[in-house]
Amino acid sequence: MTEQTSDRSTSQLRTVLKIISGVATSDGAGVSLTRYIGSAQLDHLDPFLMLDFFESDNPDDYIAGFPAHPHRGFETVTYLLAGRMRHEDSTGHGGVIEAGGIQWMSAGRGIIHSEMPEQEHGRLAGFQLWVNLPSRLKMSPPDYREFPADDIPEEIRDNGVKIRVITGTTSGGTRGPVANVVTRPLYLDISMPPGSEFIESLRPDQSAFVFVIDGAITIGGRETQNSRTVSSRQLAVLGPGKQVNVLADDHACRFLLVAGDPIGEPVSRHGPFVMNTHEEIIQAVHDFNAGSF
Ligand code: CO
Repeated sequence: MTEQTSDRSTSQLRTVLKIISGVATSDGAGVSLTRYIGSAQLDHLDPFLMLDFFESDNPDDYIAGFPAHPHRGFETVTYLLAGRMRHEDSTGHGGVIEAGGIQWMSAGRGIIHSEMPEQEHGRLAGFQLWVNLPSRLKMSPPDYREFPADDIPEEIRDNGVKIRVITGTTSGGTRGPVANVVTRPLYLDISMPPGSEFIESLRPDQSAFVFVIDGAITIGGRETQNSRTVSSRQLAVLGPGKQVNVLADDHACRFLLVAGDPIGEPVSRHGPFVMNTHEEIIQAVHDFNAGSF
């Protein structure tokens, strides 16, 4: 039964299922961004509903921001690489997200918020990820967690690989500050020196993806038929397995590794509302128009 054993050992290593190059679009009041999840290339990756990447030195691309808009039924996660964003919401919360900081907002039954660039020039770059909520939590009270860059721990491994841990716990025991998210997400920002290797355990059945910020990485192990190279500004969807192996090429590289429990429920979405059924979407639009958010 040698063959079965070998099948089992390779199935433990996550491989690249699909590489997504993103679709240029604009959202809010005219912010230029690239959409990786939530487009025709990849509708969703349960529990992840949307991933946008924005990056520009030109204020015309971002200055209009995201004026007041509603959400219901899921969580919005903003991670900034450069620049500053001010947010204010209908629960009375507000603040500024700065480079390296994270905002994990649960819209629950409904929130109205604005997300506006705090700056008038310079580079603005970052991500917005939408994470679904299960049916039983879609109508819970809105809530958010926010942590500046200094509150995000960094694990530095012997080979120089640096891991910023936003949520979840690494195999090295470093735990991110964003806690008690129902989909048990892992959200890591990993920087690798040239030629280094990064190995991490993942929950075998979690959905997972990587997004390469700088450089290029090879996923799937050294010199195996199943390994694939993923380049800067590409997203790779990973197959199941309990471990991911990443190799840097001969340049430094940086990427996000994100994983979470699939929810396995029907998804009905309409703009900023994500529910289970069309009837619940109609109710969301009605509630918003009636001013009950
Ligand atoms: Co929003």
